[in-house]
Formats: sequence, structure tokens, C-alpha cells
Amino acid sequence: MALLSALRPSSDGAAFTVRDARPADTGAFMRVIALADPIDPDPFGLARDVLASPPTPPLSHDRSLALVAEDNDTGTVIGALLGGPPKWLFTHPGIDRLPLLERLVGRVGMINGLAVHPDHRRRGVAAALMSAAEQRFTRARYGVMTVDHEPALDDFYRHQGYTIGDALLVHLPQQRLIGMTTDDTRMSAKPLHPAVRLADVPGAPHRVITGLVPGASLPDDAVFDGTRLRY
Ligand SMILES: CC(C)(COP(=O)(O)OP(=O)(O)OC[C@H]1O[C@@H](n2cnc3c(N)ncnc32)[C@H](O)[C@@H]1OP(=O)(O)O)[C@@H](O)C(=O)NCCC(=O)NCCS
Repeated sequence: MALLSALRPSSDGAAFTVRDARPADTGAFMRVIALADPIDPDPFGLARDVLASPPTPPLSHDRSLALVAEDNDTGTVIGALLGGPPKWLFTHPGIDRLPLLERLVGRVGMINGLAVHPDHRRRGVAAALMSAAEQRFTRARYGVMTVDHEPALDDFYRHQGYTIGDALLVHLPQQRLIGMTTDDTRMSAKPLHPAVRLADVPGAPHRVITGLVPGASLPDDAVFDGTRLRY
């Protein structure tokens, strides 16, 4: 089902529409999304398979979300967003049980790619794509949106309501804390549900995402002892 989530006039008077990507958008989608990683020749190859698959809830293509921004005058794709589960969830040694993995895959979303054609930047296209993506993930009962980005985009993501960080720490049941970091990019996050928050926990090196899964809601007096949360 196509989504008409944004019909926005820009400063130059033109308007664009944000909607689910369709199979016919594949070429244009791939050309635009590639701008998010100009060094890798095919950084978003997986997106081809996503776009070839039938639309399926809860997101546009099951647990993936492919959105385009289409220029209303020309019908061309001027922006693209690819979202889905963070890959690290599937390989993290701390996520050692399938039910926990399945639960986290349905609660933690990630913006895998976001790009706007250079001729159409600073018109609010990326902000509209982000807002539409967050609405979709929120409706699908996700608890937090995450994004891995270059430090040069700190201000852009801060502007979209993200807490900028160098790592993600996730509170799990049984007072466990798991973390994920990368060498040279930021890992920023934004709660999508009122029960989810980014908490400052004494002893923890970064903010902690808590309230994501049952049995993992931090009291205010929690501390981290280097191995486990104590409360
Ligand atoms: C980053 C990018 C997606 C922004 O797209 P855009 O459509 O120009 O962004 P918007 O017009 O929606 O900007 C929203 C707000 O962020 C600000 N902003 C936009 N780009 C910014 C940047 N590079 N740095 C800081 N702030 C920025 C805008 O000024 C605007 O603020 P305002 O609401 O006060 O006017 C676009 O520049 C792009 O495609 N870059 C190359 C690919 C890339 O780096 N993708 C990110 C991968 S994680």
C-alpha cells in the first residue's frame, strides 16, 4: 500500500510527496541511495531484493522500509530512505536466545541509508523522509530508532531529535547491558515510545537505551559496575 505521508511545498514553491518505494522505482532508488555512501560501488545492494519483494506489513517490506520522495512536478525520485533492523543484532554474542533476538528485531529500528539528490537539498526532503520513517516504525510498535552516521551529520541528526553518541548501550532483562560501537562513525538514537528513554547511568560509558523490552526498565538509582547493572 502506498503511503502519502508528506505533501510539502518547498522554499521555491515546488512540492514533493513521500511514499513507499515500488519495484518500478528500483533504478532511481538505487541511484539516489548510493549518494549516502559514494565510496562503496554498491553499498545498498540488499535494497534491490527488498524492492523486488511484495509489500508486506508491518513496514513497507516486512521488517524493511523503503521510502522515496517524489518531485510532484516531474515525477522523479529526489530522495530515498532505507530502514530496517540493525545488522549487529544478529551477530551480537550478548543476544544469545532466539526469543530475545526476535523481540529486539521488532523494537530497534535503524536508518540504513538516507540521501537526497544534490539539486533538491535544503528543501526539507530528508526531514520529511525521516519523519515518515519514524511514524511507520512507531505505528509498528518499535521503541527506538538508531542511525550510524558520519560526525559531519551530527547537527542534521540532532535537529531531527536524535541523541548523538559513539556507541549504543541497550538494557536487557536480568540487569544486563549490551553495547555496540564502530571505529569512526556515530551511533545516534531517538526513542519512539514514551516507555523508552536514554538514561545516564553512573559507571556506564554511554547513555543507556532502557524500556525496550519487558523486564528491562531502569530505576533512577541504577549504576553500572563494569559488568552488570545494579539496582
Ligand atoms: C544529509 C542529507 C540527507 C540532508 O538532506 P536535505 O534534504 O538537504 O535535508 P533537509 O533539507 O531535510 O534538512 C533538514 C534540516 O537539517 C539541516 N541540514 C541539512 N543538511 C545538513 C548537513 N549536512 N549538516 C547540518 N545540517 C543540515 C537543514 O538546514 C535543515 O534545517 P532547518 O529545518 O533549520 O532548515 C543530504 O545532504 C544528503 O543526501 N547528503 C549525502 C548523503 C548522506 O550523507 N546521507 C546521510 C547518510 S547517514
